[in-house]
Order: sequence, then structure tokens, then C-alpha cells
Amino acid sequence: MADRVPPPGLVHHPGAGGGSVIREALTLSARPDVLSFAGGLPASESIDAEGLRAAFDQVLSESPHTVLQYSVTDGDRRLREAIADRLTGRGLLTDPDRPLVTTGAQQALALLAAVLLRPGDTVAVEEPTYLAALQCFARAGARVIPVPTDDDGIEVEALAHVVDRERPRLVYLVPNFQNPTGRTLSLERRRAVARLAGEKGFWIAEDDPYGDLRFRGQHLPWVTAQDGAQDRSILIGSLSKILAPGLRLGWIHAPLCFRRACVVAKQAMDLHSSTVDQAAAAHYLATHDIDTRLEHASFLYRERCDAMLAALPEALPEGSTWSHPDGGMFLWVRLPGHVNAEELLPQAVSHGVAYVPGAPFFAGPPDRSTLRLSFAGHNPANIEQGMKRLGKAFT
Ligand SMILES: Cc1ncc(COP(=O)(O)O)c(C=O)c1O
Repeated sequence: MADRVPPPGLVHHPGAGGGSVIREALTLSARPDVLSFAGGLPASESIDAEGLRAAFDQVLSESPHTVLQYSVTDGDRRLREAIADRLTGRGLLTDPDRPLVTTGAQQALALLAAVLLRPGDTVAVEEPTYLAALQCFARAGARVIPVPTDDDGIEVEALAHVVDRERPRLVYLVPNFQNPTGRTLSLERRRAVARLAGEKGFWIAEDDPYGDLRFRGQHLPWVTAQDGAQDRSILIGSLSKILAPGLRLGWIHAPLCFRRACVVAKQAMDLHSSTVDQAAAAHYLATHDIDTRLEHASFLYRERCDAMLAALPEALPEGSTWSHPDGGMFLWVRLPGHVNAEELLPQAVSHGVAYVPGAPFFAGPPDRSTLRLSFAGHNPANIEQGMKRLGKAFT
């Protein structure tokens, strides 16, 4: 037999595979004896399974041959109307022709990278930031430059320096209850970032899957809605935390030239997002008081966040610091000294508790003493119990 020639190797994108720690942490969360605060899953109580089942029933009986058929790339008209109504209601005057429905906010990030980034282009990000966005930018071959953050989000002066020095095409922000820190970008800084984008000429990606989950304080207007940002800001949203992540529905709202490029890119990726899922989501949004549901979900998250905040002083070593989120699902911890949260994870698991080490969320040299806790998935009693276990693991 002739020698067999191996097929060509797979493409390797440096920095694009950093998710293994999170994957491991999520695997641990499946163990029944572990109270896991690792995953970023919305509370199951916040998902209206019965209402969604009825919405699927309705659209499948009403128009089965439409909702089971191929459809347009832009997305279901009724869903785009519902999204445009919500955006306008929150201060971004728009119409149903503007949002493009995506397969989760994650696909919106992939589209953004596909239409904007060439290998070697620069993206500035909050340090730390959403891991899967970092992976997306790495896959595009982008150079990712971290910008320092504090309790009010990205530090604008530091961003201005990065912009002058590195000339990024894109600045990526998670303005509300950020993943992983839970922090919110202040209004003053939203205005300043929009101004800077106008002066220096860069795109802003405003990724906001958590904004509807505010449980303290007032909603803040989007960066995208600030003076000067409309022609250079891309707002990304999701139904994952509002309805259910399994629907895999999100949207991108962008200037028209950008939107057109995204439609072409999406055609090559998946033609369109699931027709039946979009129809059911649109029907659900048209027939339910979603704002009241979101108020209930936010109340649930507030209770859980407060339970965690109350338990942390006892659970964590003296000198630890943590964020105080006004919404969303995450809280960010820094342990004192030179401890490594990744090395401590097996010890925590052996005590029946799990978290995500902070290091993979950094674009630059990681602060290994950090970790992310999600308070969304457990009731206050379990949170108290879990924090006691964490206390034992850390002593
Ligand atoms: C900041 C951020 N962006 C995007 C996503 C992806 O959301 P989706 O489920 O809509 O794809 C997440 C999910 O956790 C996220 O935290």
C-alpha cells in the first residue's frame, strides 16, 4: 500500500482557546454535591417554560409552513418590531429596519469581528472583560489591548492614551453589570467615551446582555445613545437573560452601512437564525408583560446578590475586596496577597463549592488573585451555605 499522506493541520488562533478553565468549572457545576457559582446561567425560576411552550404551540399551529420554512437573513419582522420598541423605550430612537436578529449576542460578536477586523487590527477592551469576546477577537487575528478599569468601568484617560498610541479600530465595552466584574460604566464616562470616539474616529461595540437586570439605582442611557456616537456605535443585545438562553436569539443595532455588511456576513454563517424560535419569541413578547417579568427576575437577583454580599466578609480572607453590582449576575473578588485562585479551585471543589478563576478574563498579564462568582443560580440559603464552604476552603 502507498504511504498515506496526512491531511493539512487545523488552523490555530493564538489566544482563542482560553475557555478550558471555564469549561472545567462548568463541568464541576454538574456534580450534585458541588454548589457552583461558576456558570453564567440565568436563574431557572426566571425562565417561563410554560409560557414559551404555549408560544411555540401557537406559532406552530397558526402558521407551521411559515415558521418551519427558510426565512430572511434580517430576522422575523415582529421580533424586530419588539426589539425596536424596547430600544426606543430605553432611549435609543429607532425603527424595526435597524436591528438585525442574530443567533445570540455571541453571533453578533462574531459578525462584528467578521466585518470590521483584519488580522493585525487593534481592539481595545476593558481589563478584565468577557472571555468569549476575547476569543472572538483572537480568532479574527486582532491585537487586543487592555485598558484599566475601576468601580465606574473603563478609565477614560487611560483609554485616550491607548487610542493615541495604538489607534484601535474598535473599543469593546460591556457597560452594564459587566461580565466578569458586575461593574457599571458611569454616565459621565459614557458621554466621555462617545466624545472620544467622535474626536479620534473609532468604532464602539456596546455589548449589553444584562442591562434589563438592574436591581438598584436608575437605568443609564447607552453609550450608543450619546451625542456623536450614533454613526460609530454598535449596540448588541440578547434574549438569553430576558427570555431563555436556549433560544439563542440576540440582535445587533448598527449604522446602516455596518448592518448591510453584517447581513452579508450572516448569510455565509447561518443564512438566518431559527425561524420557529424567532416566531415563538416574537409571539411571547407580544402577548406577555415582559417588564413585569423582568422586575421579578431583578428582585430575585437582588435577593441573591445581597445574600452573597452579606456572607462574603465571613467567607473570604481578611484583606479581600469585591465588587458591589447594581444588577446582572456576577460579582468579582480579589483575594489578598499573591494567592492563585486557579490553584485554590480544586480545594474549593473538595469542600463542595466552585467559582471561575479570574485569569482567563484578562487580555494582558492576569491578576491571578481574582475570581468570578455568579449569584444568579442559587437561592439565598444555598448561597449562604456555599459561602460557608468557600470560607472553609480558603482557611
Ligand atoms: C458580555 C456578554 N456578551 C455576550 C454574551 C453571549 O450571550 P448570548 O447568550 O446572547 O449569545 C454573554 C453571555 O454570557 C455575555 O456575558
